[in-house]
Amino acid sequence: MCGIAGYLGPKDAAQVLLVALERLKYRGYDSAGLAVSEGGSLHLRRAAGKLQALSAKLDAQPVSGHCGIAHTRWATHGPPEERNSHPHLSYDGRIAVVHNGIIENHAALRRDLEADGVRFASDTDTEVIPHLLAKHYDGKDPLQALLRTLAMLEGAFAIAVAFADRTDRLLAARKGSPLLIGRGRDRPLRPGTQERQYTDGGTPWGERELLIASDLPALLPHASEYLPLEDGEIADLGPHGVRCYDFRGERREPRWRPVEITASAVSKGNYDSFMAKEIAEQPEVLARLIDSRLRDGRLVQPDLGIDLATIRHVVFLACGTSWHAALLGKRFLENLARVHVEVDISSEYRYRNPVAAGNTLVVAISQSGETADTLAGLRLAKSKFLPVVGLVNVVTSTIARESDGVLPLLAGPEIGVASTKAYTAQVMALYLFAAQIARAKGLLPHDAEDSCIAAARAMPDLVARTLQLCEPSVEECADLYAAAQATVFLGRGGEHPTALEGALKLKEIAYVHAVGYPAGEFKHGPIALVTRHLPVVCICPRDAMYEKMLSNIQEVKARAGRIIAVGDGADRDLRDLADQVLPVLRASDELLQPILSILPLQRYAYRVARLRDCDVDQPRNLAKSVTVE
Ligand code: AGP
Repeated sequence: MCGIAGYLGPKDAAQVLLVALERLKYRGYDSAGLAVSEGGSLHLRRAAGKLQALSAKLDAQPVSGHCGIAHTRWATHGPPEERNSHPHLSYDGRIAVVHNGIIENHAALRRDLEADGVRFASDTDTEVIPHLLAKHYDGKDPLQALLRTLAMLEGAFAIAVAFADRTDRLLAARKGSPLLIGRGRDRPLRPGTQERQYTDGGTPWGERELLIASDLPALLPHASEYLPLEDGEIADLGPHGVRCYDFRGERREPRWRPVEITASAVSKGNYDSFMAKEIAEQPEVLARLIDSRLRDGRLVQPDLGIDLATIRHVVFLACGTSWHAALLGKRFLENLARVHVEVDISSEYRYRNPVAAGNTLVVAISQSGETADTLAGLRLAKSKFLPVVGLVNVVTSTIARESDGVLPLLAGPEIGVASTKAYTAQVMALYLFAAQIARAKGLLPHDAEDSCIAAARAMPDLVARTLQLCEPSVEECADLYAAAQATVFLGRGGEHPTALEGALKLKEIAYVHAVGYPAGEFKHGPIALVTRHLPVVCICPRDAMYEKMLSNIQEVKARAGRIIAVGDGADRDLRDLADQVLPVLRASDELLQPILSILPLQRYAYRVARLRDCDVDQPRNLAKSVTVE
């Protein structure tokens, strides 16, 4: 977690960095800070709390300069107070560092530094880095100081470094945590000359402006190209441009890529929050995804370097919402491709000793592609020589790069901490992947393939219409139950993951205690919770479990629970049983119904959060990318 940024160029560094932090705040938002190198000093501004606090501080005490680094924090070591905010300065004030990750041997390094007389100003693991750099910096060679320091650090990190005596130099290094370098367009030549046009009167920062960021959106709109640093790589940014090295100081050839996303993809547009925008984007996201998996009306076999026909077992690795999508992936693969599937929570898998049976494919599912536990699970699987496919939204991510093959979600940047459009895209991508495997195995005849494709193709429109259809009832329910202390979500079969996901949404953004349960299991204990004050959301579309689900609803009703049903709005039986119905349309393949059933629950969580005055995009204690264990 945490977001880091750096800027070197003609613009006002503090202003560029504030915008970058705005785009990175989904990675952590309990404090923020920046340091600008100017006039032989590092000018530091830090503030606890949301980014507005830093912005207000900069208004009161502006800093000017063209070279700086910045950070938005999700606390790991030390509470979110100003003294623990980044950047951290070296004991002599010459060096500033921002860091994402954890320095595992920080306690031993701290003891040694303290024994040498260094006094620490914070509780963070990060602060050892600027002190070590200062010890190794002779005032001439910043790169050597960094190489010596990196040799002493254990753990995962992405860092950016600024120097008081260098207004034209930034360093960055990566081991385990993501980090990108960006560069702006080449400046135009003056007509009739070989000289470049500088409106800023000089070239201390080279011919292109240079940037550092934890994620691509934070390089916008300045960068036209970006370079994802590999693990164990350093970038040296200065008038010479960008030079890359490994941690032994050997040069590496940078491989620049064009920036293909636009600034509008990372703005809220006309919506009041990213979450609201991302919920509304689901029809177009699904349409784009489905198109990408079809050619001439048939399923394309993905180019993963793996023969899908030979797969006998699949292991899904995922966390949180991605894990809920994996539960549905299991149903799809079992039903369509008759493949044996295990669904593992990454943080559990990585510490087990899983059996690496032959013909097993591991699928790492992650919106961000940076989740530390899923990445560790992927590496464990690879160490057992299992092929790994990454189902990711961020295709520049570490999981994408370390996977043998990638299935992109193409959902566009998801900024709201609560995953919405990435979830429904994951579910659709898994459905299509199961169909692709089934076809490769000869288990999906032409007409069955046609039905799958038709069912998938109908979904964007059904999603758009369901969002409209359910909204009035969602609003009514949110008004009625926003003050409830707890909510239970029940579902069976494919709607059990929907129940888990609906509960997670309500917990994470509205801070309502919520639990998702398989409806048939409810009577084995949790039904004791039911009172007339407890809203129980019962997901009950007309699927194979419909009758069973109606019986489970009866059991709740008999104990006076408040029933909010998700299902067919015209279903008389359901209407008679439920206090309220959140209507959803019907998918032509019931395997896809959970994509429709989750929509009113995303909107319900959003509306309850709004009524409870919660920040839906940046809920407390969370971060979008969980890059620590
Ligand atoms: C989703 O709403 C959550 N914020 C969270 O559970 C998330 O799905 C989880 O951290 C996994 O993230 P990933 O998909 O980026 O790996």
